[in-house]
Amino acid sequence: MGVLNGKVGVVTGAGRGIGREICLSFAQEGAKVVVNDLGGDRDGSGEGKIADEVVKEIQDLGGEAVANYDSVGTVEGGENLFKTTIDAFGEMDFLVNNAGILRDRTLYNMEESDWDAIMEVHLKGHYNCTRPFVRYIRDENRLNCRILNMSSVSGLYGNFGQTNYGAAKAGIAGFSRSLALEVAKYKCTVNTISPGAATRLTIDLIEAAGREYDENDWTQGPEQIAPVVTWLCSEEANDITSQIIHSQGGILGIMQQPAVIKSFTSDNLWTIDQLNQLMPELIEAKKHHDAEVEEKGKPSKT
Ligand SMILES: NC(=O)c1ccc[n+]([C@@H]2O[C@H](COP(=O)([O-])OP(=O)(O)OC[C@H]3O[C@@H](n4cnc5c(N)ncnc54)[C@H](O)[C@@H]3O)[C@@H](O)[C@H]2O)c1
Repeated sequence: MGVLNGKVGVVTGAGRGIGREICLSFAQEGAKVVVNDLGGDRDGSGEGKIADEVVKEIQDLGGEAVANYDSVGTVEGGENLFKTTIDAFGEMDFLVNNAGILRDRTLYNMEESDWDAIMEVHLKGHYNCTRPFVRYIRDENRLNCRILNMSSVSGLYGNFGQTNYGAAKAGIAGFSRSLALEVAKYKCTVNTISPGAATRLTIDLIEAAGREYDENDWTQGPEQIAPVVTWLCSEEANDITSQIIHSQGGILGIMQQPAVIKSFTSDNLWTIDQLNQLMPELIEAKKHHDAEVEEKGKPSKT
């Protein structure tokens, strides 16, 4: 008896990498799975039917799965993905917005097409695939559904050469927080994942950073994210929403959300003299806070 028995989960960009592992984990825990993947190159060009391979893997293990090859980057693609799900399984419980591409360049060299392609797949992809699902949740009064969205440290911390990707990934965290409020009345949770794993998006970046890639090391691999996403879809996680869960390098963590750390009020409009005094105090408070968070965030052994 799996923790997701009888549930129906949709995972976008699931023909390889993190998404594939989530599909396998879902199936292992008894869920029926829709494996979406456009099957394109790392930069989003091209297409192929790689979702079929994951469907076959699941079926060979005795699970139920269907493929969908639509691009998450269009409204029609998102609607067709939902239709594929309902046609195949008659219902839907989980959506994992995972599909992704990269077009890394500094802003000096970034073409409009690089910006638009990233926004289309990542940020608009979340809108395109999630809207049909939340309408279904509302119209059917379907309770206890789950939405999992893939952010990145690139958007949450910042990363050189990724203003497009970082903006989309920060946007995804904002999308998740607002959506969590909107779907709370249906007991639907919305959480954000900050993953880190060696996949075709990152292996060359890992190697360029001078680290050795070992495909047999689970702390590097995309399989480390899958149980975390599966757990967040289980009944144990019914009350966990609007969180950012970090899973990378064998570490499982929770991230802080933006919040005011220290503040002042004044009866009058700020003067430059006041700001000369107060701004350094704010920056100092932030430094103390960051040091404390860094200390608390260090992994402890289970
Ligand atoms: N690997 C990491 O370290 C890392 C870090 C932070 C965030 N992420 C995010 O995790 C997600 C999965 O990344 P991954 O590392 O497994 O990459 P991956 O390239 O292995 O998998 C992404 C999949 O998305 C598919 N895809 C791309 N555009 C699509 C579209 N328009 N419609 C449908 N499918 C599409 C690709 O064909 C590919 O199979 C992405 O959103 C990525 O940005 C990954």
